[in-house]
Formats: sequence, C-alpha cells, structure tokens
Amino acid sequence: MNILGIETSCDETAAAVVKDGTRILSSVVASQVEVHREYGGVVPELASRRHIESIAPAVEQALNDAGTNQKRIDGVAVTRGPGLVGALLVGFSFARAYAYALELPWVGVDHLEGHLNSVFLSEPSPEFPFVALLASGGHTGIYLVNSYTQCRCLGHTRDDAAGEAFDKVAKMLDLGYPGGVVISQLAESGDPERFRFPRAYLDKHSFDFSFSGIKTAVKRHIETHENYREHLPDIAAGFEAAVVEVLADKLIMAAEKYNCQRIALVGGVAANTALRRKIVQEAESRAISFFVPDISLCGDNGAMIAACGYRSLADPEGPRGRLDDDVYSRAIP
Ligand code: KG4
Ligand code: ZN
Repeated sequence: MNILGIETSCDETAAAVVKDGTRILSSVVASQVEVHREYGGVVPELASRRHIESIAPAVEQALNDAGTNQKRIDGVAVTRGPGLVGALLVGFSFARAYAYALELPWVGVDHLEGHLNSVFLSEPSPEFPFVALLASGGHTGIYLVNSYTQCRCLGHTRDDAAGEAFDKVAKMLDLGYPGGVVISQLAESGDPERFRFPRAYLDKHSFDFSFSGIKTAVKRHIETHENYREHLPDIAAGFEAAVVEVLADKLIMAAEKYNCQRIALVGGVAANTALRRKIVQEAESRAISFFVPDISLCGDNGAMIAACGYRSLADPEGPRGRLDDDVYSRAIP
C-alpha cells in the first residue's frame, strides 16, 4: 500500500511516498530556512505563502522520485495539527482536494504521532512496548507506546519546548537561525563544565519538563558578563549539557519506572549529537536498547506522516478524513 504523506505544519513543505508504513520510496523536504532567517524565527504568514508555492512541486517531485504516479497511490495522509494554522491549512486543503479528485481514501494525522512513527522508518525499529522522548521545536514529552494506536503521554513541557529553548538562546546570543544546529556546532568546541546552568527536574517523580528557567539563566549570564562574546562556545556547551542531562535522565527514569527495555528518541532535537551520545551511554550501562531514526527523519518530513496515516488507512475500519474536517493549532490534551 503506497501512501502519499504531506506535512506543512511549520516551515518545511514536505511530501513523501511510503510503502506499507515502513519503506520510504521518496521523501522531499523543501526547507524555508532562507525565508525566515532574516527575522530570526518563523514568520507565520510568510510560511503559508511559501507553502502555497512549494506544495504542488513537492508532491510532484515525491511521486517522480518514488518512480510512481497518481494512479499508483493508494491513500493520502496529511498533518492536521498541532502547528501554525495558516501553514497547516495549505497542506490540509491540498491533500483533501487531491484525494477527492483522485477518489482516494485520506486521513488527517496528528503531527506528534507522526514524529513517534518516524522510529518505524529506520532499521532496526523497536518492538512494543517502548518509551519515547519526543523533543522538537513545538513540543517536548515522554510517551509510553504500547502499540501503533495506543500511546500514553507520561509528561510534557510546562513552558518552552526543548528545541524552542535552543532557538531562543541562539537568538539571545545572536547566533542566527535555526538555533539548535548552530548551538550544537558551537558547543562541540566548548567546555560544558565552565558555566553551570540550572537543571529543572521539577517534582522528583515527574516526567514534565520546564525550560524557561534555563533560558532566563542564560539571559542573566549575558547581562552580567560584558565579555560573554569571548566565551560563546562554553555558554553553548553549558546550556546544551543542562538540557541534554534533563532530557536523558527523564527518559531513562521513565523506562525504569515502567520496566521497559526499549527507548526511542524522535523530533527535531533528536538530531543533537550530544543528546544521542548521552542516551547511548545511559542505555548501554543498563542494557536498555535505544532506537533513534536517521537524522533525515528527525526534523519535520512527509514520510513520518505517511507512516502514521498508513495505520489508519490500512485498516478497513480505521478513521478516514471527511470533507468538513478542520485543522487545529494546539496539541490535543
Ligand atoms: O521536529 P522539528 O523539525 O519541528 C517541530 O515539530 O517543532 O523540530 C525543530 C526543532 C528546532 O527548534 C531546532 O532548533 C531543533 O529542532 N533542532 C535541534 C538540532 N537540530 C534541530 N536542537 C538541538 N540540536 C540540534 N542539532
Ligand atoms: Zn515536528
């Protein structure tokens, strides 16, 4: 079953063709980084306008790259939320019209479930149950994944997402956009011990996160150290170490609490080398198996949306999109 997946929730126009929920036949990601760079963050209206320009070419290229055509697509999956409403509406309206015109079944999927499905697109992929940390620019949470359709949120961020903290700190330090990649590159040459930023564990048993305190701590550091520009790599490394430590510790804590031998890491922040390294170490010392998708599948992409939609579309009784379905901006509680 070939599913066309479409993703336009933020600043990537993405389309992919995935066979049977696991085999990527093509994956096209048209990045808008250049459009938003001069503003230091995503400008929603510009994102929508760029999605409108890019969506049809991205879908056409995904079909070409997969060596297929409209007639050999069996269903369409598209991100329904959470995300920027104007951006979501472009992909959603396109996918719905496309499916309607071709008389194909289609389904709107949750972006966060899409990220969780990215782990099934790289080999080896985990058996159930597993505990997953989803860390992206819009969301950070820990999930107990019992099956393709059964997943329980154990905790999530109470304020900023982990990726958002990277982006905001990069902006404060005038390092450019997008922040995650810049900070992690800079941190490679820094000393993570030189400046110790706070680790917010909240309640000892909580799987919730908070990243606003560390952001404020970096701001205070900048305000009180006139020469802070001379030690940017150390600030970046200290900040990254604090975020990585909390993320990795809570993921391991959750695996131990739920007696789970498998953990996974997904979302844009999963591309972070220090985080991958730390989780590998912690998992190895406890004989826990660690699963992380290929870097190309960590950030937003259409393949994870296709994989997620396949779970519904392959089931004759599974949910289907309806013409009066709408998008949503926030995570469904
Ligand atoms: O999953 P994603 O592409 O979009 C959302 O769903 O939000 O995640 C984007 C986020 C951004 O905040 C970006 O700064 C962060 O992922 N990110 C990273 C790295 N690469 C991307 N954060 C830390 N280290 C990285 N190497
Ligand atoms: Zn995402």
